[in-house]
Amino acid sequence: MAHIVAGVTTSHVPAIGAALDGGKAAEPYWAPVFAGYEASKAWIAALKPDVVILVYNDHASAFSLDMIPTFAIGCAAEFPPADEGWGPRPVPVVKGHPKLAWHIAQSVILDEFDLTIVNKMAVDHGLTVPLSLMFGQPDAWPCPVIPLAVNVVQYPPPTGARCYKLGQAIRRAVESYDEPLKVVIFGTGGMSHQLQGPRAGLINSVFDRAFLDALVADPANLALKPHIEYLREAGSEGIELVMWLVMRGALNAEVREVHRFYHVPASNTAVGHIILENAA
Ligand SMILES: [Fe+2]
Repeated sequence: MAHIVAGVTTSHVPAIGAALDGGKAAEPYWAPVFAGYEASKAWIAALKPDVVILVYNDHASAFSLDMIPTFAIGCAAEFPPADEGWGPRPVPVVKGHPKLAWHIAQSVILDEFDLTIVNKMAVDHGLTVPLSLMFGQPDAWPCPVIPLAVNVVQYPPPTGARCYKLGQAIRRAVESYDEPLKVVIFGTGGMSHQLQGPRAGLINSVFDRAFLDALVADPANLALKPHIEYLREAGSEGIELVMWLVMRGALNAEVREVHRFYHVPASNTAVGHIILENAA
């Protein structure tokens, strides 16, 4: 049987990828950001997951206003990095795990949780930046990755409660898979940020820190937070944080916090990063 052994949350800011790809990681602005992930890279290199399920949102790269799946799972054998306007990131092609992805799709859909099945998809910074932060700059990503895209770009995004329940359904799916795989699930995006309008540049560290605390200790309650509260407190793009609840729903109620990092600013956002292990 496969197991979800740990969860990771991380911001997926595109400028982080650009800094890394452009050789700017050691510059004074970026060095503190990457320093927050050094322990994380060592942790995941030691853990050696067999598969990563990566919850992220597409930023009008694979999808557009022509088609807006609320939840979409990538079942392809591979996913090329998307061209987001300045050429694809110089990172390895992401190899999928079609067998497990199809199993999750079947299990979750028959569990009354509809997913859009995607057999061809480019993946943008939402997926590749978290891989870079956790795995560095290898010639090939060290394990297969199953993309799980959530619509947080076009209203209405799913509620935090729905995302939390999806995480629980994904856990049931993984645990009914008949191979002894060690799975880590990533929830990405956030934290507080607003990219447009009179409040552009908004950062709310008090909200962010409380969110991190609740994510660890009181996730069921955190999942009840309404959209308007994310918008008001964390800015219009802070709604990306609902994706972290998919990750948290896939873990035990009780978890062990392995690592936490919070840093302002990275581009126009607050970077939040946490690693949680399922208690044995
Ligand atoms: Fe994003």
